[in-house]
Amino acid sequence: MTQPIDYRHVSILWAGPEHAAEIANLHAGLFDKAWDAGSFQNLLGHPGSTAFMARLGAPAENVGFILGQLAADEAEILTLGVRADRQRHGIGRRLVEALGRAARKAEAKRLFLEVAADNAAALGLYKGLGFQEVGRRKGYYERPAGPAEDALTLALTL
Ligand SMILES: CC(C)(COP(=O)(O)OP(=O)(O)OC[C@H]1O[C@@H](n2cnc3c(N)ncnc32)[C@H](O)[C@@H]1OP(=O)(O)O)[C@@H](O)C(=O)NCCC(=O)NCCS
Repeated sequence: MTQPIDYRHVSILWAGPEHAAEIANLHAGLFDKAWDAGSFQNLLGHPGSTAFMARLGAPAENVGFILGQLAADEAEILTLGVRADRQRHGIGRRLVEALGRAARKAEAKRLFLEVAADNAAALGLYKGLGFQEVGRRKGYYERPAGPAEDALTLALTL
């Protein structure tokens, strides 16, 4: 029998290349430009790649992912997403915190990411965690209807 969802019981689990198809599936549900399973497999197999998935419910389902890259003393979030019907329950925050902890353990000093200037949900999440704007690329994200949107570079000191 399907149990009611208890968001306190979300599990944040390490993810590797074997999770590429599941992550690609979640990604495709959230982004206009989906990355295919092969691309995720390559990224997840890269040295320095660090990824986590969020699992929730009984039976458990994968409802979120984060993929980051560590290089020397810097880390970068390459992509992050939480399934639309499970958003706004703290899962995105837990995923970013997990990557931040892993990066700190690997002796990274700063965590970077790029986000569209009109992505209010992601900006709310990152700013709430203490990320600061450190750069802007004008017109970086093309939009099918309307002008291109700027990309903001955000950074968090770990
Ligand atoms: C961005 C995203 C990952 C957030 O995941 P989430 O699990 O819903 O986020 P959380 O519940 O952890 O939210 C943490 C905080 O972020 C902010 N936030 C999240 N969603 C928001 C929204 N829709 N509007 C405004 N602020 C929002 C809030 O401050 C929230 O804290 P609160 O709920 O206590 O007010 C999710 O909206 C998503 O997958 N979006 C589509 C993909 C995407 O844009 N990825 C990021 C690319 S850089």
